[in-house]
Amino acid sequence: MKENNLKNVEKRFEELADEYDQEFIKLIPKYIESIDALINSIPFEENAKIRVLDLGCGTGVITKHIKEIYENSIVTCIDLSEKMIEIAKKNLKEYKNIDYLVGNFLDYDFKKGYDLVVSSLAIHHLVSDEDKKRLYKNIYEILNNNGVFYNNDKVQPPNEHIGKLYHDIFIKNLKNNYNDKINEISQSADDHDYPSQLFDQLKWLEEIGFKNIEVIWKYYGHGVYGGEKIDK
Ligand SMILES: C[S@@+](CC[C@H](N)C(=O)[O-])C[C@H]1O[C@@H](n2cnc3c(N)ncnc32)[C@H](O)[C@@H]1O
Repeated sequence: MKENNLKNVEKRFEELADEYDQEFIKLIPKYIESIDALINSIPFEENAKIRVLDLGCGTGVITKHIKEIYENSIVTCIDLSEKMIEIAKKNLKEYKNIDYLVGNFLDYDFKKGYDLVVSSLAIHHLVSDEDKKRLYKNIYEILNNNGVFYNNDKVQPPNEHIGKLYHDIFIKNLKNNYNDKINEISQSADDHDYPSQLFDQLKWLEEIGFKNIEVIWKYYGHGVYGGEKIDK
């Protein structure tokens, strides 16, 4: 399963694409609050002509929020799933200066020069710690001086007790939003997920050279965290 995860993830989101916008708001506890935290963490002036990269853009939820505030931004959206990208194009059709790429964000050879790299609920699909670390290093390389990276993502609990707590919160949220198939929905979400511990990820960011690393928001098994590149 692990080695084929990329194919599995692509398949899962190809299948989910049409319902994604209705389902994820119910599936992820405090999804909207987490997105607000991600967007609020962006430090630039509203009229700034920032270059933005949205990793695992899905149907374009994060880019839409960014475009609403930063209308002069120039955004690159990348996703594994062609269908998610097709829906993103429709959802974002009223906005200018957005490029769409279908591909794996870990292997894609991005040009340098981004002011902001964001990701939401995507990086935990990379199976190994090494791949996540490699991605964070690549992100650091393509960021401009004073550029920032923030990730909204699922995180791995550090022990069994906290794992059960996160799971219980996830199930409680499902029970509030769905009438049946709770275990099935929970299992199919878990099957494609390989989150890493938050504390480890913060250490990697520091090792790579990020500064002002911070957890902006956290609710049990999900968090918004990142840092700044200050190299001059
Ligand atoms: C749960 S969705 C999140 C979509 C959007 N960012 C949001 O917050 O609503 C995860 C998305 O990440 C994409 N994804 C996962 N791993 C990826 C990878 N290695 N490269 C590109 N996209 C990836 C999936 O195809 C899917 O569309």
